[in-house]
Amino acid sequence: MLVLGLESSCDDCSAAVVEETTAGPLLRSLVRESQDAIHGPFGGVVPELAAREHLLQVRAVMAGALAQAGIGLAELDRIAVTRGPGLVGSLLATFSASKAVAWHQDLPWVGVHHLLGHLNAARFASPDLPFPALVLLVSGGHTHLYLAKDWTSLQLLQKTRDDAAGEAFDKTARMLNLGYPGGPLVDACAQAAPRAADPFTPPKFRDGKASWSFSGLKTGVKLRVERNPHLAKAGAADPQVQALCRSLQEAISAWLLKPLPEWAEAHDARSLVISGGVACNSRLRAEAATLAARLGLALAIPEPRLCTDNGAMIAAAGALLERETDPWIQNADADLKLGA
Ligand code: KG4
Ligand code: ZN
Repeated sequence: MLVLGLESSCDDCSAAVVEETTAGPLLRSLVRESQDAIHGPFGGVVPELAAREHLLQVRAVMAGALAQAGIGLAELDRIAVTRGPGLVGSLLATFSASKAVAWHQDLPWVGVHHLLGHLNAARFASPDLPFPALVLLVSGGHTHLYLAKDWTSLQLLQKTRDDAAGEAFDKTARMLNLGYPGGPLVDACAQAAPRAADPFTPPKFRDGKASWSFSGLKTGVKLRVERNPHLAKAGAADPQVQALCRSLQEAISAWLLKPLPEWAEAHDARSLVISGGVACNSRLRAEAATLAARLGLALAIPEPRLCTDNGAMIAAAGALLERETDPWIQNADADLKLGA
């Protein structure tokens, strides 16, 4: 089965052709247009600009994915698109395009939950992953831990109370004037650091509920920059900036992984999936490998280009879902719940 997958829930406009085989999904093509140059000067995604840019990008992105795969629309067996959650103006660009193509080509159509997409990004390298799986989804908008009994179900275990982990990376990069998006820049800076700065204090929760919090890190970095204004001007080659990035990255990685052993035991988990943009982080990838080996869990972290938002993960999830019998009445949903 050949699936065209489309994704535009935030600031990446992406399309991919995936061939679903008995041995799992094969990536036939992947195209992504970044909008970093547009949002960079604002230090974050501007929804209205993102939506307009997707409208300009969507046709070339789809055509590019088909050309790279060496097929035409007539050879597709279905089309899959992100239904939500996300920025509604952004979602609508590929959502509407997918319905138009499905109608024109008389193609089966599937709407996919964005997070099921991130889970299925792991299916390319690990199609035989043992379940149940702990699924840590970490991006600029999500820091959620789920339990999956298969590739199409996610049950929430715990999440952040405030900021997503990706926000802590992006806002730190902004305070240090490193550029946008922050995650990869902080990562590179941290890897260059000969040593770490003082560690950040983990948050404590009085109600004892399993969760994360990353907004305190923002304040922590802000206070350090106020105390030492040199940090905001020095740039990525400065040892103090590097040391701060390393402490931040060590804190985020350690905090994200800390609750996993207890959840793994409680649910007899057999594997660990980590996906979403922050799963590109070098420290998190290395620490997760050590942890998974210690706990005897199979580990599946997609290759970096499949961790960030992309059309391939939507195609891979869409290949496993029931086709919609009446696509024309479907709509994108900014707050789409899992299982809806
Ligand atoms: O999944 P994604 O592409 O989009 C959302 O759904 O948010 O994730 C983007 C996030 C951004 O916050 C970005 O800074 C972060 O992923 N990110 C990283 C790295 N690469 C991307 N964070 C830490 N280390 C990285 N290497
Ligand atoms: Zn995402």
